[in-house]
Amino acid sequence: MITNTALEYKGDLYPSNIVSYTLEGDSVYFNTDNNVILKVTVLRDSLIRFRFTTKGYFSNDFSYAIDKTQLHGYNFLSITEEADYYQIVTSKIKCVIQKADMRKSIYDLAGNVLLEDELGFHWEESFEFGGNIVKMSKSSKDGECFYGLGDKATQMNLKGKRLENFATDQYAYQKDQEPLYKVVPFYIGLQNKQAYGIFFDNTFRTFFDFCHERRNVTSFWAEGGEMNYYFFYGPQMQDVVATYTDLTGKPELPPLWALGYHQCKWSYFPEHNVKEVTAKFRALKIPCDAIYLDIDYMDGFRCFTWNKEYFPDPKRMVAELGQDGFKTVVIIDPGIKVDKEYSIYKEALEKDYFCKRADGPYMKGKVWPGECNFPDYTNPEVREWWAGLFKELVADIGVKGVWNDMNEPAVMEVPNKTFPNDVRHDYDGNPCSHRKAHNIYGTQMARATYHGVKRFAYPKRPFVITRSAYAGAQRYTSSWTGDNVASWEHLWIANIQVQRMSISGMGFTGSDIGGFAEQPTGELYARWIQLGVFHPFCRTHSSGDHGDQEPWAFDEEVIDITRKFVNLRYQLLPYLYTIFYQYIEEGIPMLKPLVYFDQADIQTHYRNDEFVFGNQILVCPILEPNALGRRMYVPKGEWYNYWTNSRVKGGKEMWVDTHYDEIPVFVKAGAIIPKYPVQQYVGELEFDELTLDLYYKEGKEKSVVYEDAQDGYDYKKGRYSFLTFRLTGKTKELNVQLHKEGKYDTAYSKYKINLIGLPFKVTTIEIDNEKITFDSAALEKNSYLVVNKEFNILHLVGE
Ligand code: GLC
Repeated sequence: MITNTALEYKGDLYPSNIVSYTLEGDSVYFNTDNNVILKVTVLRDSLIRFRFTTKGYFSNDFSYAIDKTQLHGYNFLSITEEADYYQIVTSKIKCVIQKADMRKSIYDLAGNVLLEDELGFHWEESFEFGGNIVKMSKSSKDGECFYGLGDKATQMNLKGKRLENFATDQYAYQKDQEPLYKVVPFYIGLQNKQAYGIFFDNTFRTFFDFCHERRNVTSFWAEGGEMNYYFFYGPQMQDVVATYTDLTGKPELPPLWALGYHQCKWSYFPEHNVKEVTAKFRALKIPCDAIYLDIDYMDGFRCFTWNKEYFPDPKRMVAELGQDGFKTVVIIDPGIKVDKEYSIYKEALEKDYFCKRADGPYMKGKVWPGECNFPDYTNPEVREWWAGLFKELVADIGVKGVWNDMNEPAVMEVPNKTFPNDVRHDYDGNPCSHRKAHNIYGTQMARATYHGVKRFAYPKRPFVITRSAYAGAQRYTSSWTGDNVASWEHLWIANIQVQRMSISGMGFTGSDIGGFAEQPTGELYARWIQLGVFHPFCRTHSSGDHGDQEPWAFDEEVIDITRKFVNLRYQLLPYLYTIFYQYIEEGIPMLKPLVYFDQADIQTHYRNDEFVFGNQILVCPILEPNALGRRMYVPKGEWYNYWTNSRVKGGKEMWVDTHYDEIPVFVKAGAIIPKYPVQQYVGELEFDELTLDLYYKEGKEKSVVYEDAQDGYDYKKGRYSFLTFRLTGKTKELNVQLHKEGKYDTAYSKYKINLIGLPFKVTTIEIDNEKITFDSAALEKNSYLVVNKEFNILHLVGE
């Protein structure tokens, strides 16, 4: 019997006393009397893996989540034996393991407890399926907070919640509904101002209980597989998230256009309808870079085919859209229609690439095309075949991105919405049932898609988006939060989900702007686009059966608001691209929930709505109708209201007035924010200056700008430009030092520096220690300065 509602069960088994240990390289093995082995591996000074077996030996060590290319490195590992316990020490933490019962405690080197086993590891034998239900419980102190776990539609701080990880097609899900589409069994604990992380790398159905069942106990368990988890020490959340992201991998840079605005609906067809939509964007001057074709572009929903009645000449259409700056993205689902006349089906059948039931027949289930079979993407040969299928779409027709959907995998007309448990999978040479492969099926599909699109898009960069994902999927794909609803509550959910994905390693995420199911009012759509432009992935999508959801489906005011905010996103593209670069280089989340931004400030621990976009822009959506502003918490420090340029001191809750065409946006004092001119699509304009919005501060602040060719792989050979601006403000002085790295020469030659909040009248300007002449009346009036991009030090003195 699967006990998926309670952690403890009277038949639970526990490790008995430790009888021996061995040290092998970076690992220590502890053996108990009753055949339990605990393998403790020190991967880094602040990253320890704990792996248990109850059989007396370990099975093959294989994980889809871990990025094998990432380097491990620890400086120091010592093990000592005391009368009652063993102690492993690294240069950052100490782990104590009790001899009597194998319970563990982790301390920092000052002796503070970071995390302690409550019952620790225990298990229940699953007589129904074989193997164990593996369980872990930890003590939790009052005041401890919990964050992470991917796309959960609940409050940011998970304290008091029980959550379930089982990838599920959850159409029109509700607040707190479980489980959802993605599985990221990684959480961050914050206790006594110290953060740590746990990644439970187990692909079976897993559960996490954060002081829900018992007030001072946190636990996690899985319906099979191994108790296998990683412990990350902070003490900053930044360190935990960066190390987790490193361990499970980072993506390459997307093409810059993928950070533009995307328009989608189920479905745009036939061709003239697609063209009308794209033309309207251009006519209304609302920037847009991507247009999506949902399932109706196919012939009877057969993947890799076209409905020639609707799209007689896809190659010509895609090229024409391309000339107008639109990249075409098409949907590809996993279900392959059972149809003996259909070449993809025939080939997969001949090659035996479909998933099979335990007794032999192919797994058959209904999806859009009717009865389908499903490729086993956990087989490397199948992934290779799948990748090859993209040749025609990408290389010949010119499609620029692929959208993978229904890959939980979703099956219609069955109560569990997915494959039965007995379906077999290759699991890269570790054959298993669907119980183990279910949660990574979608990721392996997206991985195969990514390799295909990348191969045929080369030397350009690929773009892939997926609905289902397991930890590590970020290496291959972006994602969206699935079939949400056009409601105010869902706007609240989307805001939290995207922030949460960001601190769960999977930053390139967005929601269906306006809501997928049901019809938003103009006001709700406006409020949603105002938030959506600050999400790494920015796409309007809707089910199309309740009315239109293009900006012009609403009134003039909504069109204007949409234009204003999409324009802002296009202006901020260099800023967004820079934070994307920091994400892929250093694992820094692009969106920072307030608690991540300032964990030392306990006021942030239960905040949901406000977040920092990148490092220096604070955003807070309006989540209610008829709002003239809202209360929000502004984190400590000095901030400028983006709309009024007035300054506020943070560290308190405050009321912020806004108009219908604004949401609260603040810029950190001292920041230098790069901006491009508004373009209707990425690369539309050539321009000779980069705008820098400089927000004066008395004190210091560092800002960076990353740029490259916006597509292709030259950046990997050093052809990028990385600017570091170091601002120092004094009462009557401003100093900006510029340092440049990289071999890429940007096309513009000047910076237009907008001086915001300067408290003095400029009397002298020096560039690289030389005084320059300037029109002081003009500077006074316009508050901007144009300087050659080659400067090193800009020095303003005033009175
Ligand atoms: C699923 C997707 C949705 C898509 C629809 C039709 O519901 O989540 O985005 O439009 O299928 O393909």
